[in-house]
Amino acid sequence: MKVIVEKNYDELSKRAASLLEEEIRNNPELVLGLATGSTPVGTYEELIRAHRERGLDFSKVSTFNLDEYIGLDGEHPNSYRYFMNEKLFDHININKEKTYVPNGKAQNPIDYCAEYDGDIERAGGIDIQILGIGTNGHIAFNEPADELSVGTSVVQLTKSTIEDNSRFFDSMDEVPKTAISMGIGSILKARKIILLASGKNKAPIMQKLLKENVISTKLPASLLLLHPDVTVIVDEDAYNI
Ligand code: PGA
Repeated sequence: MKVIVEKNYDELSKRAASLLEEEIRNNPELVLGLATGSTPVGTYEELIRAHRERGLDFSKVSTFNLDEYIGLDGEHPNSYRYFMNEKLFDHININKEKTYVPNGKAQNPIDYCAEYDGDIERAGGIDIQILGIGTNGHIAFNEPADELSVGTSVVQLTKSTIEDNSRFFDSMDEVPKTAISMGIGSILKARKIILLASGKNKAPIMQKLLKENVISTKLPASLLLLHPDVTVIVDEDAYNI
């Protein structure tokens, strides 16, 4: 794991976006794995700037998002499809047909999960995957547990994730309790991974991940220690206890 410590959130976002810009310029048909949550928003803003000011071309790029709440369709303001449109896709020249976000309204979510992994494979696999990390160490919605799913699956959200995410909803009751999430195996198949962590509330989990050097399904992000090409970009607040 390569660790880059940036001074603050703005610098972290610029660093992540510039790594992605370089990748897209080297391979205009890049398959990008994307994440939602607060952390990548600054990175997406920088990518929009790169598109507007430097003509960064997304027309041949495909994207796969990590997860989606079950029960929310893409029009729902709290759905991750809506989030991605608003924070990135609507502001760049990407072909929306090449932007994949799991369908939270799939008729048969279990069959749908296998289809989603198939879609990733048909696209040639993910070249570079952006990840955030939960305060409990989850990546995507792979929550700490005795067992973790390898492929994309239907997951139950933990109490701590429901609490963390309730800030986006009017009340805790409105937060969906289940989601479709790419599995740990789907994530580890990405050729490169960039994990972003910002803010003091991430410092304890980053300390655990970076200093203990142990893997456990109770700390899903620790499975990334097995991947040969992971870059962690962290700001000082998240790095220093
Ligand atoms: P955050 O979420 O970026 O909003 O902190 C990260 C995550 O839960 O994976």
